[in-house]
Amino acid sequence: MIINDIFHRFIFIANYQAICYRISDFGKQTFLPGELQFLLILILLYSKSFLMSHKLGRNSFGDPANAGNLMSIEEAHALLNDWVPNERLRLHMKQVAAVMKAWAIERENADEQTALKWELAGLLHDADWEKYPDDHCRIIIEELEKRNIDPNVIHCIASHGPNYFGVEPNNTMDKMIYAFDELSGFVHAAALIRPTRYEGLEVKSVLKRLKSPAFAAQVSREDINDAISRTNNSLEEIIQFIIDHQKDVN
Ligand SMILES: [Fe+2]
Repeated sequence: MIINDIFHRFIFIANYQAICYRISDFGKQTFLPGELQFLLILILLYSKSFLMSHKLGRNSFGDPANAGNLMSIEEAHALLNDWVPNERLRLHMKQVAAVMKAWAIERENADEQTALKWELAGLLHDADWEKYPDDHCRIIIEELEKRNIDPNVIHCIASHGPNYFGVEPNNTMDKMIYAFDELSGFVHAAALIRPTRYEGLEVKSVLKRLKSPAFAAQVSREDINDAISRTNNSLEEIIQFIIDHQKDVN
C-alpha cells in the first residue's frame, strides 16, 4: 500500500515536471504565453487521470435531516475566496457553477432553491484542491457536513470524479457536474488559444481539439466519454451549452 502510494507520487511529480518543461517551451511561441501556460497546467492538474486516487471510502454524505439546508451564494463565494487564493482556479469553479445553474433552470425547470443547490455544488466542487491536494474532496465534504448543508449538494461534490473518488453519480445533478467538470476547462482552453476567444467558437472546433491527442493531452478523453454516456445528452449539445453559458463568466 505504502509502496503503491510512493510510486504514484513519484509518477505524479515526474509527469508534472515533464509537462511544465514542455509547456515552458511551447509558451515561448504563443501570443499569451503566461495565461496559456497557466491554463494548460490547470487542465493537466485537474485532469482526473493525472490525479492520484482519492477514494473517499464511503457513499453516504451529510445528514438527511439537513435536506433543504443551503448556504447563500455570498457565503459560498466567501468560502471560495478564503480557500482558493488563485484567481484562475476560482474562475474554473465559477464557470462550472454558472453552467450548472443554467442547466438546472433551462433544462430541468428547477425552482430557485434547486438551482441554488446545483450552483453551490459547481462553485465548491474543487474548493479544497489548492490548499489540500492530497485530501482533495474529503476536506470540502467534511466542511459542508460541519455546516449542515443539504446531503444532495455534498453527494454531488463527492461524485464529480467517480473513477477517482469512488462515488457513483446517482441523479441528474451528479451526472451533469461530472460531465461539465470534464469539459468546462477543456472548452475554456480551446477558447483561450483563439485570438477572438469565445467569439465565434464553434462546437466542431472543440471536437477537433478533443480528437487531437496533443491538445491538453492529459485531459482524459475516456473520462469525458464516460461522463457523457451517463447523461441523456450528446457531446455536441453539452459543449454548445458550455460555450453559451461560461463565455461571460469572469
Ligand atoms: Fe473541477
